[in-house]
Order: sequence, then C-alpha cells, then structure tokens
Amino acid sequence: PFYTTMFGLSELEEKIQTAFGLPQVIVVAGDSEQSVQTKRELGRAACQVLRKVMEPGDVVAVTGGTTIEQVANQLTTSAPLKTNWFVPARGGLGESLDYQANTIASTMAKRTGANYRLLHVPDHLGEEAYASIMQEPNIREIVDVIRSARIVVHGIGDAKVMARRRRLKPELLDAMTRDGALAEAFGYYFDREGRVVHQMQTVGLRLDDIVKTEVVIGVAGGKSKGEAIAAVMRFGHNDVIVVDEAAALEIVSII
Ligand code: BG6
Repeated sequence: PFYTTMFGLSELEEKIQTAFGLPQVIVVAGDSEQSVQTKRELGRAACQVLRKVMEPGDVVAVTGGTTIEQVANQLTTSAPLKTNWFVPARGGLGESLDYQANTIASTMAKRTGANYRLLHVPDHLGEEAYASIMQEPNIREIVDVIRSARIVVHGIGDAKVMARRRRLKPELLDAMTRDGALAEAFGYYFDREGRVVHQMQTVGLRLDDIVKTEVVIGVAGGKSKGEAIAAVMRFGHNDVIVVDEAAALEIVSII
C-alpha cells in the first residue's frame, strides 16, 4: 500500500464516517484506477457487506458499471440463496454488455443460486417512449419488483464521465455543468452539496425509492472519484460506502 503511511485505513474510515454521519465506511488499500487488484479488493469488500445484510426473501437491486461488475464476479455463498432475487436498478441497455445492470444481476444470481429478473429497456427514454413503455404490463410488473428492493448496490461516477459514457447531448452536459453536476449515481446527477441537478428519464428505481430503501450500499474508488463520492454521501442516503484509499484520501482532503 502506498498511502497508508499518512493515515491508517481505519483512521480514514472513521474520519469519513464522522464527517458524513454514515453508519458504515469501508476503505480498502490502494487506488483502483491504477490497479486491477485494488478494484478486485473493492469488489470483494462489497461482497462481504452484501452477504452480511442479505436476508431470505430479499430483493437486491444493482446498478451497472465496472466496479459493481467486480462485486458480481466475486460474489459467493455457502448455501444457495433460493429465496432471493437480483434485479437491475434501472433499464441499462446502452452500457457495454459486460457491465450492464442486467448482466450484473444475472451473474450475481447465477453465482449464488438466487433468482433474477431482467429489464430490457434502454437507459434513457424520451417522454413519449417512457409513457408507452410504462403501459406494458410486463414492464410494470418487473418495475414493481425493482421498486420493492430492500437492498440497493450502486456504483458512483464522475458526472462528466458518465454523461459521455451515456452519450448525453453536449448541450445537456453544458447545462448540467453550469448547474454544478459533479457526481452520478443510479441515473441521477448531483452537485457538490448532494443536490440532484439532473435526472435521466428512466425505467426502474427512482429517487424516492432510494430514500426509502433499507440498505443502500455505494461502491466506488479511484482518486478522480473522490469529489463525486463525497457529493453522493452529502445526498445522504447511503448506509454503507465501500471506497479505496485513493478516493478516501481525496474525500478527507475536502471535508
Ligand atoms: C453505471 C451506473 O452503470 O456505473 C452508475 O448506472 C455508476 O450509476 C457507474 O455511476 C459507475 O461506473 P464505474 O465503471 O466507474 O464503476
């Protein structure tokens, strides 16, 4: 570990926990932007958290992204989770197949002997398309399952990076930047204070669901995501946050 000479990992955890009033903060050593091994460690730490909080019958909604992909690829259980469901938090067609929420939900279910449902709709929709898709009984049914999730596992992204990855129109990105968009999580864009400045028209979990969800687990790492992670923590609905040391140091430097 390169940074740990400055702060111990548990010291970083405590600092962040106190500053944001979070129930649980986990910091793994290293920088996941620089090291695949650290990204795997981040995923492994999140798996431990998830296993601890999961109860029979729980529905777990997951977002996409390369970080949550690492959680999915390492999730194991001692006994099959026959009564559990994994679902994508939102429609996610648009991201690369490897780390779409659908792929991640199905991987998690297959690896743990749980069940899954998929949502085959694009990540962002025009208003008309949204209205008509929401009329579909099949879609409504799966959306109800998603919105009933007791646990959400989500990644956090830099607003600009995610806007580009989702091919948002440049005008929209400019407007969002003017509004101070800094972070992205579950389709919402947040400013420094954790205020929502933009949202995608999307099928699946909504902000009011996140607010009500019993266990919200955020997983993200890398120095460049420090500010974004802090913004999402200021939004204030995470129960657990799993980060790496590089992000944690960045967070500590701005609180
Ligand atoms: C996306 C999620 O799939 O992944 C976003 O929908 C999240 O909410 C993003 O911000 C993070 O991606 P990564 O690859 O940086 O883990």
